[in-house]
Amino acid sequence: MFGKKKEQPQIDKEQLELIQNAQKRIKQKKRLYVHFVLFLIGSVFIIIANTVLNIGKDFKLLGKEWFLFAILIWLFFLIYHVFNVFITHKFMGKSWEKKQLDKLIIQQKTRIEQLKNELHKEAPLIAESERYNESLNKKEKTSELTIIVAAAENDAIGKDNKLIWHLSDDLKRFKSLTNGHHIIMGRKTFESFPKPLPNRTHVVITRQTDYQAPEGVIIVNSLEDAINVAKNDPQPYIIGGGEIYKQALLLADKIELTRVHENFEGDAFFPEIDASVWTETTNVFHTKDDKHDYEFSFLTYVRK
Ligand SMILES: NC(=O)c1ccc[n+]([C@@H]2O[C@H](COP(=O)([O-])OP(=O)(O)OC[C@H]3O[C@@H](n4cnc5c(N)ncnc54)[C@H](OP(=O)(O)O)[C@@H]3O)[C@@H](O)[C@H]2O)c1
Repeated sequence: MFGKKKEQPQIDKEQLELIQNAQKRIKQKKRLYVHFVLFLIGSVFIIIANTVLNIGKDFKLLGKEWFLFAILIWLFFLIYHVFNVFITHKFMGKSWEKKQLDKLIIQQKTRIEQLKNELHKEAPLIAESERYNESLNKKEKTSELTIIVAAAENDAIGKDNKLIWHLSDDLKRFKSLTNGHHIIMGRKTFESFPKPLPNRTHVVITRQTDYQAPEGVIIVNSLEDAINVAKNDPQPYIIGGGEIYKQALLLADKIELTRVHENFEGDAFFPEIDASVWTETTNVFHTKDDKHDYEFSFLTYVRK
């Protein structure tokens, strides 16, 4: 109890690993040295066996003595052993594995952070969509919210706040479907029109509280308000652009898509249509002609 306390050598984990590694390397090099000596002795023995003791004297391969091939094969294993000791074990040993693992962990952590940030950004949107769906479940649903859009194969819908193509039949279809209904749009899409379209109620979404628009155009500050304004319309249409489509895709019941069978450069895009959420119910193909520079299809999707 009162005796002198025995001093314990203090070696930390890192030092211990270094020592163990050094011991391992010494063992590997010793084994290689033994292999080398065995190779020399063995080779001399094989040569003597063949040339002096005449063992297998008549056996030749490609006109050469067999011991030559035996020595070559052994030499190959010796070189492989050298390679393992000085390349594989030296550079790809435990510490290399640990470094790779650390790198992977850092990459995974960064990805998790990115996902967290994305989730943080999308959370209000998802919450809004859930609130809207809940409110719809409570009330009797009276209108079918429909997205109407023309998108290229690469989902481009516009560039420099303009449409990319002119397809006469698509415009006619847009006109006949939306005629007499509410058309809900983002402020930028509204500003891309020379003037409001006849016989439709325009609902424009903006975050600006003092946004001025011609008489008859309804200004709202959220998508939810826009849908509320149009609640007595049996078929209000979301007519774009990219920002509004992205948010409305979570709420819509139907999509009227004109798929233009071409890829275009754009700065506004339609979001991907998730096949697990949407069912295609109509698909009508149109070829090119003098009024249509591109092939396109009219597609209808309904929520599953
Ligand atoms: N191919 C088609 O079928 C089609 C259809 C329509 C449009 N387009 C094209 O699409 C492009 C325009 O799309 P875009 O994405 O740039 O703009 P956009 O969706 O038309 O409008 C974006 C604007 O809407 C407002 N906004 C968006 N989300 C909001 C929210 N949650 N609450 C309140 N306000 C909100 C903001 O207005 P403030 O900045 O004023 O706050 C925002 O800048 C154009 O090139 C157009 O030609 C194509």
